[in-house]
Amino acid sequence: MIVDERITAYINSLEKELPAYLNALEKTALSESVPIIRKETQTLIRLLLAMKQPTKILEVGAAVGFSALYMSEYMPENCSITTIEKVEMRLEKARINIANAPKGNKITLLEGDALNILKQLASQGNSYDFIFMDAAKAQYMIFLPEIMKLLTAGGLLITDNVLQDGAVAKSRYGITRRDRTIHSRMREYLYTITHMEELETAVISIGDGVTVSTRIQ
Ligand SMILES: C[S@@+](CC[C@H](N)C(=O)[O-])C[C@H]1O[C@@H](n2cnc3c(N)ncnc32)[C@H](O)[C@@H]1O
Repeated sequence: MIVDERITAYINSLEKELPAYLNALEKTALSESVPIIRKETQTLIRLLLAMKQPTKILEVGAAVGFSALYMSEYMPENCSITTIEKVEMRLEKARINIANAPKGNKITLLEGDALNILKQLASQGNSYDFIFMDAAKAQYMIFLPEIMKLLTAGGLLITDNVLQDGAVAKSRYGITRRDRTIHSRMREYLYTITHMEELETAVISIGDGVTVSTRIQ
């Protein structure tokens, strides 16, 4: 936890109630250790959806569909979501959760490896004004060139889990050997998106660390 637990608990106590089916889905996902977006990240996304009023959302990393369904509840009427997942065990649940949800018809679940799918989406000329990246952290840097082909001018790119419970801020030598690759890849990703001329980016220390970027050129 990168923010004091008590402060986080207090802020979370101010959150609005989720629709009942999302509340149940969140509980099940947490009890099965599926890594879904935390409460603080949910609120940030809801705010960004209200501000941006996107028409096309792309999510990388659906897991069991919780965050896609969450976004479907707070996005504008005319908006649709494309979400990507590759792990069969997760896909099985995502398909059912999406099919049974009130706004599941607004969500397209693309099954397979995100890098291949992002390349396909870009080569087909697709574009998105709201992209939520929440997949394998080590791959963010590899996804980024494809993401940039897909992100519209003025579009938002939100990336979750960028601070890895604070580990990213530690020196390389304070990190176990096993975690050094992910540590350096995440640092490279953060340095890149905070220094790219095309993006204006804020690194926000809520949840597990979130970046919010907007495309300025
Ligand atoms: C943190 S979870 C996503 C949680 C989800 N966004 C939510 O909050 O409900 C990350 C997911 O990304 C998927 N994933 C990781 N690498 C991927 C890849 N290369 N292609 C597609 N899915 C990937 C994992 O299988 C996992 O289910």
